[in-house]
Amino acid sequence: MAQLIDGKAVSAKVKEQVRLETQALIEKHGITPGLAVVIVGNDPASRVYVNNKKKACEAVGFKSFEYALPEETTQEELLELVETLNADPNVNGILVQLPVPKQIDDKAIINAISPAKDVDAFHPENVGRIMIGDYSFLPCTPAGAMELIDSTGIEVAGKRCVVIGRSNIVGKPMAMLLLHRSGTVTICHSRTQDLASVTREADILVAAVGRANFVTADMVKEGAVVIDVGINRLENGKLCGDVDFAAVEPKACAITPVPGGVGPMTIAMLMRNTLTAAKAQHGITD
Ligand code: GUN
Repeated sequence: MAQLIDGKAVSAKVKEQVRLETQALIEKHGITPGLAVVIVGNDPASRVYVNNKKKACEAVGFKSFEYALPEETTQEELLELVETLNADPNVNGILVQLPVPKQIDDKAIINAISPAKDVDAFHPENVGRIMIGDYSFLPCTPAGAMELIDSTGIEVAGKRCVVIGRSNIVGKPMAMLLLHRSGTVTICHSRTQDLASVTREADILVAAVGRANFVTADMVKEGAVVIDVGINRLENGKLCGDVDFAAVEPKACAITPVPGGVGPMTIAMLMRNTLTAAKAQHGITD
């Protein structure tokens, strides 16, 4: 039986820590961190994510500012809003919920967000900082996945780590974080030959492919730590991960469920990044 890695519990712990630090920041310095969340259009999944972010802000004691813009918003209009938020001292973090409608170039928007307020860590400056290991923010999902690995007590240094998926948001930064921890890291993707022979080497296996039940038992080494970043909706409406949980769980030493694994961590790390941004913008180091 594998240890079930409880993302809800770890997420609650991180948020409680952020709440306490926020209380201290308000009492000692009179500063309340503020997060601006921008949503363009009516995507129902994005709406749910944005509502959850707002609720999390309230729970940890942040101010949250929501900007819900219509589907037909132009790139110029969105850039103008980003510039306003960049200049607003009450806003310490800016998050533009992706995807944005097709008339808007998401790269142009990401590039326009002040790197100091880029709590997603998507701006090229922050991405570059992660490459050289000199960063203040980490992208929320890989940072959350790393917290879950740490919660198992497993030491990453020297271990074989395999990441399946090479996205800018998850796969690439995840590999970089594991490398910073002195893991021996391989990134696999859709063109990888004999994928199973590579993933079977992994002491730590991270699946971020976006395909339901993609990782099967024959792809997993006995005793591996398995982190499932996927959130896929099946035809019956149920959520499932990239890992065939029922088949893989008996082989793993620790595994994240979906839902209740990496998912809840993403928002917790967003709260932490916003607090870090607020402190940095006020030159507070305690
Ligand atoms: N859409 C899905 N996940 C994310 C995220 O982490 N950040 C932003 N900005 N948009 C998203």
